Amino acid sequence: MMRWTTRVTELLDCDYPIIQGALSRIGNWKFAAAVSETGAHGTLTAAVSLTPDKLREDIRRCRDATDKGFSVNITVGMCPHIDEMLDVCLEEEVEVIETAVFNADEYGKRIKEAGRKWIHKTATLKHALHAEKAGADALILVGLEGIGFKNPAQLPTMTTIAWAARNIRVPIIAAGGIGDSRTFLGALGLGADGVMMGTAFMATKECPISDRFKQKMVGAFPDNPHLRNTVLAPPNPKQYEAVMKKRGEMPLENWLTALERVMLKHDDWELAPEMWNEDYDRLSSLMSFAVTYVDHIPTVKEFVDGIVQGARKQIAEWKFLER
Ligand SMILES: Cc1cc2nc3c(=O)[nH]c(=O)nc-3n(C[C@H](O)[C@H](O)[C@H](O)COP(=O)(O)O)c2cc1C
Repeated sequence: MMRWTTRVTELLDCDYPIIQGALSRIGNWKFAAAVSETGAHGTLTAAVSLTPDKLREDIRRCRDATDKGFSVNITVGMCPHIDEMLDVCLEEEVEVIETAVFNADEYGKRIKEAGRKWIHKTATLKHALHAEKAGADALILVGLEGIGFKNPAQLPTMTTIAWAARNIRVPIIAAGGIGDSRTFLGALGLGADGVMMGTAFMATKECPISDRFKQKMVGAFPDNPHLRNTVLAPPNPKQYEAVMKKRGEMPLENWLTALERVMLKHDDWELAPEMWNEDYDRLSSLMSFAVTYVDHIPTVKEFVDGIVQGARKQIAEWKFLER
């Protein structure tokens, strides 16, 4: 299939402006390589490698598995040994490094000084503008329909991306509830140069999660009250206040985990550090409104081709366009 050309495909040197989101506990080198092989862009989540030595090995394995480019994600606060992990990325000459969630200026500075590409992911325009000023080459904005780290100031994907398009000059990558050709085209229509998907990529054959969880995604709908609450509801104000007060009282990693669980509306958020290490099948909240479009489990190639072909077909069928 022919390559699409947007500022994102040019920045990442991939065929389609489609990026697989970082996935804690899941996003290993094998999955990143499988995604990049399709013409989309895979992401190796450094936190999955756990140690800098293992990350080095995983980057090399990913390179052996694909000639295509891929990113390494270091999520501020959640990625262990983050400074050493970044050292490894720079030593191994990883071309694109993605930071996420919290202020990443110091990491961005090191990435840019090393002459590499820096992409930052955030949930708000305010933080995106900050990262743009700090030198980010592209910004991922995750709207309310998405999952991962939630932010009390987050807006729906449509507003987030259209607003960003009016204010951000560097390429914009839209995320949050995207999972088929219509939502892909919709994001480009709003002004994005590419999309990132987390949930939808989890519902593929190669994704290293259980079939049971994948089937749960097939059977899930966005109007399910539990899912709707997890994805959309703001955090319980009392819990939010309580967790914010605990900042500095425990190791940062544990505090961030507790904060994430408050954001995801888990009543047992105070047990977070122990709970978080358990089987992700129990964390049924980690899927977004993108489940709307999950009706079977394709291979990653079938999934990416389906989005691209579907988008082409849809544009061709837009009879209202002047030709
Ligand atoms: C299971 C799971 C784990 C995730 N882990 C991370 C992570 O460690 N770091 C990160 O930056 N984003 C993480 N994300 C967010 C995704 O990379 C992506 O931004 C998000 O899934 C986009 O929304 P969507 O699920 O609607 O596509 C995670 C998402 C899921 C579903």
